[in-house]
Amino acid sequence: MGDPFSRNSSMARTGKKPSVKLRKARIRHFLLTTGPNRLSRGWLYRRHHAEGVELVEQEIVAPGWPKAFDGIRIGHISDIHVGDLMLANRAIEVIQQLAAASPDMVCNTGDLVDLHWPGVEPVAEALAAIRAPLGNFFVLGNHDELDSGEDVERIVSDAGTTVLHDDVAQITRGDDRLRVGGIGWARTPARCRQRIEATIGDECVDLMLAHNPKAFDHAAARHVPLMLSGHTHGGQIARRNRPDANLAVAHRRSAGLYEHGDSRLYVTVGAGALFPVRWNVPAEIAILTVRCGR
Ligand SMILES: [Fe+2]
Repeated sequence: MGDPFSRNSSMARTGKKPSVKLRKARIRHFLLTTGPNRLSRGWLYRRHHAEGVELVEQEIVAPGWPKAFDGIRIGHISDIHVGDLMLANRAIEVIQQLAAASPDMVCNTGDLVDLHWPGVEPVAEALAAIRAPLGNFFVLGNHDELDSGEDVERIVSDAGTTVLHDDVAQITRGDDRLRVGGIGWARTPARCRQRIEATIGDECVDLMLAHNPKAFDHAAARHVPLMLSGHTHGGQIARRNRPDANLAVAHRRSAGLYEHGDSRLYVTVGAGALFPVRWNVPAEIAILTVRCGR
């Protein structure tokens, strides 16, 4: 809790002025989170912190997926938002929940931090400690950039996770290969397109990580078999049994599995939260079993 204008940010340490985006985010945090919690005398936080995070299993059949990687299990985690609503110790427990499912690969699609990065180091170390034989990958979300995206990338990378910032990693198995691309934060479809083009150029990738699901239209145009995203939190409030009917009205694809041509998109509703309420959209981590063919 605390005053939204005097948090322990990197700016407080370096003397730099906070960005306009960070100041706006602090005000939003005060209005949606800290303020209501104070009015409720701490009840909102107590209730929110007591809620669990579900482990969701999803099979995805993706045409074009490399045969040697048929059936791999990807641990998809996103939007942890370490901060008031996800204390570092709780985040580490959630990550250990994912580790216990023994995924072959871990993909973190961003928003590791909520507002400020100081204190996120043990969470980054817990993420990197998941023993995933096919690798452990991370892309930046919009919240990671509020305070200092460079510091978040440095902390995640130093801990041992591969940061994909408009970059591609290649995993080989026998004669086959899996190319994993990841783009930095991009707000608009046009910016997503630019970043995807800068990332894959004339090549192709099999798996694309992008915080913003708005990147999917262009990923599908480039015949990417599978893209993973977060960002929407599934709106956090949805109609019962209608995950698509939610508060994330700016997004056509906001929760679950989508198809466009031969491409597939999974949008996780995330492990953390932007405000301390979730109705009919429980927090999740996902194990995605990816199969090739139709
Ligand atoms: Fe988020």
